[in-house]
Amino acid sequence: MKTIIEPFRIKSVEPIRFTTRPERERLLRAANWNTFALHADDVMIDLLTDSGTSAMSAAQWGTMMTGDESYAGSPSFWRFDAAVRDLFDFVHIIPTHQGRAAEAILFSILGGAGCKVPSNTHFDTTRGNIEATGAEAVDLLVPEGHDPNDLSPFKGNIDLGRLERFMAEYADDVPCVMITVTNNAGGGQPASLENIHAAADIAHAHGKPFIIDACRFAENAHFIKHREPGQEHRSIPDIVRDMFSTADGMTMSAKKDALVNIGGWLALNDAELAMKARNRLIMTEGFPTYGGLAGRDLDAIAQGLAEVVDEDYLRYRVRTNEYLVERLDAMGVPVIKPAGGHAVFVDARTWLAHVPPLQYPGHSLACALYEAGGIRTTEIGTVMFGRRPDGSEQPAAMDLVRLAMPRRVYTQSHADYIVEVFDELRAGVAELPGYRITEEPPAMRHFTAKFEPLT
Ligand code: F0G
Repeated sequence: MKTIIEPFRIKSVEPIRFTTRPERERLLRAANWNTFALHADDVMIDLLTDSGTSAMSAAQWGTMMTGDESYAGSPSFWRFDAAVRDLFDFVHIIPTHQGRAAEAILFSILGGAGCKVPSNTHFDTTRGNIEATGAEAVDLLVPEGHDPNDLSPFKGNIDLGRLERFMAEYADDVPCVMITVTNNAGGGQPASLENIHAAADIAHAHGKPFIIDACRFAENAHFIKHREPGQEHRSIPDIVRDMFSTADGMTMSAKKDALVNIGGWLALNDAELAMKARNRLIMTEGFPTYGGLAGRDLDAIAQGLAEVVDEDYLRYRVRTNEYLVERLDAMGVPVIKPAGGHAVFVDARTWLAHVPPLQYPGHSLACALYEAGGIRTTEIGTVMFGRRPDGSEQPAAMDLVRLAMPRRVYTQSHADYIVEVFDELRAGVAELPGYRITEEPPAMRHFTAKFEPLT
């Protein structure tokens, strides 16, 4: 059969509250045209993030009922530990309440003024946690990763030539080399197995640990299986084990590819680093067998890890994004190609060419998607990245809108509805207004800034 159906049926549903366009215009105005300030029950299709928004399975809810809440040595921890180890063969597995907590702990140990941490592209919390220690976060993405129309299969690869030159010059200042899989900030594009291993080799040649930001490891493994020569006959768990076999550690947000609503971990091989990390964990997260989570959350992660490597699930998951990209592309909406693993990225700078970057074309499109169809998305562009520390502004590299797909939440007809809303916007796209910011905090302004349309 050609139709790829959702590989699940639905036992428990949540209602979507339908709103009208005039109601949404009023709500968006009341939110000062910032979609983060909307109440979630005023949103019909919420594509703000794929993080912590997964639908859990009956098996996950079931295992939560038998979760054990002992402070130390809970059986839930040992089930979590075994499930993580089954895919990621690290010596020390340290649970945290989410991904950024793992990053904060890691860089409280490895960071510091004068340090430089290279990666393909650091996610913004990773960058934040590195910079908070006085260190520098350096992005070394391959050039094709910056071209929305380049169809290369692994646009999330780290640029090995630049990494080699960077290490030759700065190795003394580098505490570790990182790679993010998939590359969220770069459109959810994967890194190849070959690239991951080659980056690890460069790190090791300089005696440095290689750390993987693993949030979307299963989606990355799916792309390796289907795009990397010689990998198509391997199972997803086998590819995952291979991806991590030359790494010295990982940071993980279980809110993505562990199919849970909260959770994460830090894994390390080095005993001394792990000892320091656990000491820090006890101060900031909790005892090392729960790390800021309830025992039941650890069980949900263990079960989620077994489910996320299922090939029927991953095929459906990635196909949803491909379908949206194909349909939007066919109607002339500029999108990043090929489709990423967790999201569809629309190139708003190109589509809203009449709105200059400093009037935020991505933001304008995000507002229009909400007003037209109750769809909530995020701008990834000049609002998010355009403010310099001195308060001045410059255009970001791209002005994108991210449609992040929650896992197992929306169905094919929701996808068709999204396409229809874009189709409706098409006719009036040239009239969408630019925006100005009326109030903003000094950092991370996209979360709380207030806006006004310029018409
Ligand atoms: N690394 C990557 C690549 C991420 O995408 C995220 C979160 C984190 C680390 C931090 O994990 O949220 O559990 O603390 N990304 C979310 C997003 C927020 O919407 O892309 P966390």
